[in-house]
Amino acid sequence: MENRKVTLSYEDGKSIDFPVLPGTLGPDVVDIRTFSKTGMFTFDPGFLATSACESKITFIDGDLGQLYYRGYPIEQLAEHSDFLESCYLLLNGELPNAEEKKNFDYTVLRHNMLHDQILSFFKGFRRDAHPMAVMVGVVGALSAFYHDSLDINDPHHREVSAFRLIAKVPTIAAQAYRYNKGLPFSYPKAGLTYAENFLHMMFSTPVSEYKVNPVLARALDRIFILHADHEQNASTSTVRLAGSSGANPFACIAAGIACLWGPSHGGANEAVLKMLDEIGSVDNVPAFMEGVKNKTHKLMGFGHRVYKNMDPRAKIMKQTCDEVLNELGLHNDPKFKLAMALEKIALEDPYFIERKLYPNVDFYSGIVLSAIGIPVSMFTPIFALARTVGWIAHWTEMIADPGMKIGRPRQLYTGAVRRDYVPVAERK
Ligand code: ACO
Repeated sequence: MENRKVTLSYEDGKSIDFPVLPGTLGPDVVDIRTFSKTGMFTFDPGFLATSACESKITFIDGDLGQLYYRGYPIEQLAEHSDFLESCYLLLNGELPNAEEKKNFDYTVLRHNMLHDQILSFFKGFRRDAHPMAVMVGVVGALSAFYHDSLDINDPHHREVSAFRLIAKVPTIAAQAYRYNKGLPFSYPKAGLTYAENFLHMMFSTPVSEYKVNPVLARALDRIFILHADHEQNASTSTVRLAGSSGANPFACIAAGIACLWGPSHGGANEAVLKMLDEIGSVDNVPAFMEGVKNKTHKLMGFGHRVYKNMDPRAKIMKQTCDEVLNELGLHNDPKFKLAMALEKIALEDPYFIERKLYPNVDFYSGIVLSAIGIPVSMFTPIFALARTVGWIAHWTEMIADPGMKIGRPRQLYTGAVRRDYVPVAERK
């Protein structure tokens, strides 16, 4: 429908019209860009009703439980694609042909080494540093090592930085883990896929080659695909806001990693495993659930700001979780039995049903990663390495937009009104 508008009417009878902009999918939006001319601002903490940008990358319908990357349902990508192909899709808008796929994989897998001096940079951290603290620091520091690709107005520079980030972030994440463990640095290996290489860098030692189990590598690749993008979430919005000032991509991705660290966002799968440890056994579940209903604590891995139906990623991850637990013979492991008992109780409990609280992808991904042998402190770094491509796709889309403006939200000020300075001797 052409030229739709909404009209805002004032008490004095005046009114003002705002155009309605249609999307290809999802709700229409009211274009309030001219609203500030009225002398007022809109108020929307947490962006519950605000579209901060126009984007062509990812679509989510939280009520229907749909997630599309460039129009392709996540279920189809998780089933038939692999992570690097999904990266190509997110960055370029189309699936690659065979030649493009070969070149893309080759370029990423050839740039996964780090500048050797970055290894000295790691040594500045305390051994017990959380790997996310190391990730924020080292990814930000990449801008000090790769000066030759920092012109954000040059599409070639942007592309080089994108390849560098996607290729090197797994190496940084694996090294953050190894440094913490006191293990020697493990270089990437030729001939392995992206997920296999990550497992190799995490677990191989000079005296024991890590033999990659294809079921586990496929599960990890799926975790990467499912976490690759999720439209305008907190960390992606952080990357866009940081990038809107013209900051370089390494600095922007470091900002995204910092945001992802929080327990309400990327820290959730880590929080799931900590919660399972705290609950201890199936016998303690009823008391724990009482605490959830009394709002003493939350059931981590449940609920989502956007999905008020089953998160489609959670459905896929549940299946992967079964495959991994079967492969490793862990179905009777007390921790995983406890997780499944929690899931069953929560799915049947009116508290969760009424509030439309379903398990989110992090509930199952935490269990899968733990079963693979990945320590809890590495869960969020793995989310960060998978999400790096989404952040870059959004950053690139924003920079390439000629209408880009620096992000500058306004506020409703409720602090002190103007008052005069009182010298300290005269203050009561
Ligand atoms: N456990 C118990 N109760 C919950 C939970 C939960 N995990 N999540 C929401 N609720 C309750 C709230 O207390 C509230 O109850 P009320 O209506 O009685 O006040 C109701 O459900 C609505 O919750 P909101 O906080 O308004 O939901 P919101 O959309 O703002 O929060 C969030 C979403 C932050 C993800 C929340 O569900 C949560 O904290 N979950 C646990 C952490 C988690 O798993 N995060 C991962 C998110 S996915 C991701 O980042 C990839």
